[in-house]
Amino acid sequence: MEKSNIILIGFMGVGKTSVGKKTAQILNMDFIDTDLLIEKSLGMNVPEIFSRFGEGFFREKESQILSWVANKRNTVVATGGGIVLNPVNINVLSGTGMIVWLKAPVELIYERIQSDGNRPLSYNKSIEDIKSIYSKRHDLYKKYCDFCIDVSGKSIETIALQIVDYYKKSGRFF
Ligand code: S3P
Repeated sequence: MEKSNIILIGFMGVGKTSVGKKTAQILNMDFIDTDLLIEKSLGMNVPEIFSRFGEGFFREKESQILSWVANKRNTVVATGGGIVLNPVNINVLSGTGMIVWLKAPVELIYERIQSDGNRPLSYNKSIEDIKSIYSKRHDLYKKYCDFCIDVSGKSIETIALQIVDYYKKSGRFF
């Protein structure tokens, strides 16, 4: 199978969506965001899905949507921060392209996300709460990525160009 996609993983607030859009623009590829796909398919936003149906339901939808994503080619895919919690998700995604982990220190992440009402898992939480979620995810991001970029102090364009560079060198550039 042609592995022409670029899949962005990483914790909430690291910039997967903005970097993904920029990367797609540079490479003239399509862009999709799994959270947006879920929102569109259900006609409600992520906080609403969490409050009405719970996290378990959201995770089911997240996995279901990936079967559609798996058919895409030449596409940059921004994923939700919890995509790594289900190894089946990673199996599906890694079959379609290279996985890039956008990494940032938890303190920076906390600053960016704690007052964001669109993120039910982190909204109004303490830094200890965020650290606790982060520590459960860190090793999964590390294990599943083909390539990692520390995003701290870098512009969206710089990060996108690093991804482009790696993508071209990886031999998956068609
Ligand atoms: C989640 C991250 C969110 C979204 C949902 C759950 C998580 O996406 O999927 O709120 O578990 O980390 P972002 O990583 O784009 O914020």
